[in-house]
Amino acid sequence: MIRNATRRARGPGVSVLSSALLAACTGGTEYAQTTFHPVSGEGAIQNGAFMNTFWWTMVILFLVYFLVVYVVVRFRERPDSPQPRQIHGHTGLEILWTVIPAIITVFIMIPAVRGVFALQRAPVADALEIEAIGHQWWWEFRYPTEGVVTANQFYLPVGREVHVRLSSADVIHSFWVPRIGGKRDVLPQPRVAEGENPRPNHLVFTVDEAGQYRGQCAEYCGEAHAIMAMQAVAVAPEEFAAWVRSMKDTPALPAGETAAEVAAPDPVAAAAVAEPSGAAAAQAPATLEEQGRQIFLSKACIACHSVANTSAKGRVGPNLTRFGARPYVGAGALPNTAENVEQWIRDPQLLKAGALMPGAQKEAAGFPPTGLTDDEVRAVAAWLVSLR
Ligand code: CUA
Repeated sequence: MIRNATRRARGPGVSVLSSALLAACTGGTEYAQTTFHPVSGEGAIQNGAFMNTFWWTMVILFLVYFLVVYVVVRFRERPDSPQPRQIHGHTGLEILWTVIPAIITVFIMIPAVRGVFALQRAPVADALEIEAIGHQWWWEFRYPTEGVVTANQFYLPVGREVHVRLSSADVIHSFWVPRIGGKRDVLPQPRVAEGENPRPNHLVFTVDEAGQYRGQCAEYCGEAHAIMAMQAVAVAPEEFAAWVRSMKDTPALPAGETAAEVAAPDPVAAAAVAEPSGAAAAQAPATLEEQGRQIFLSKACIACHSVANTSAKGRVGPNLTRFGARPYVGAGALPNTAENVEQWIRDPQLLKAGALMPGAQKEAAGFPPTGLTDDEVRAVAAWLVSLR
């Protein structure tokens, strides 16, 4: 009876433990940052080197445990037991347990060294060039050939080699998209000239499988290090070309609206709006998004942020071109919804301690508060989320 109760009580605990072990062994793809399901040859080399080391270690572990148990049982203290034969200084054994580990080390070393060279090799001539720049606490991605700049989410074509040049705008970060592989430190570099980096760390890889792969800064870089995520989006080459075009041709207003339309509203309709100041009402933009666009472009926002095809050309903060298409706001702080973006603009530090962007009422990193009212914040958020 008691035994049955104990067994019942143990049941759920054991099943939780075994499913955890099972999950750890299979490295299920539900873990966005697993290294056990690589999507590039380079990631596969790294995972292979790890698994190779792991299985050698397991063989040694069980061999040693078996020998320890055997020795403990076989040579345990018993009454009248003789002194076992002493093997200290046995030349044959000494040679054996030096040579065997040396051979195992070679088997571990070969794939590991192969991986080091594969990840450090020079790119092929037609590789896609991407500059990844670490900032406290977000990622900037520049495509010098395509003339595209984006932040926190970067696109790449499946099947084409990618050459990522890594540099930092401030402290040491580390670029790591676990399913692609090849974690590498991102170092502050003296920039000799625009686009020139005398000692770049770089990564070369080819992603073989379309999908979205989450990455994370992997070097402690200050207060918001833990919220410095990125998304690699691997798509078919045609889709990549379409993305490049969309990043350059993106209108500053959602489809169906043009700045000209909303800037010159129908005078009759405008007059019908009962507002205390008739002149202001006639000028008032028709939609919340258009209001947001005008506020963004006339306030402090443009000192730090860029949006393609607008007068916003700031380079201090993330480029916000097609911001609405990104999955997160604040480099992984929260899902990208209008409400979250509003909260972010109002008070970034509430969502991400240490964020360098000033809030509506709070200064940050030496920047004064933006002074946006709640209505203005709502309009700007609506516009940004509409940029898809
Ligand atoms: Cu950037 Cu940690």
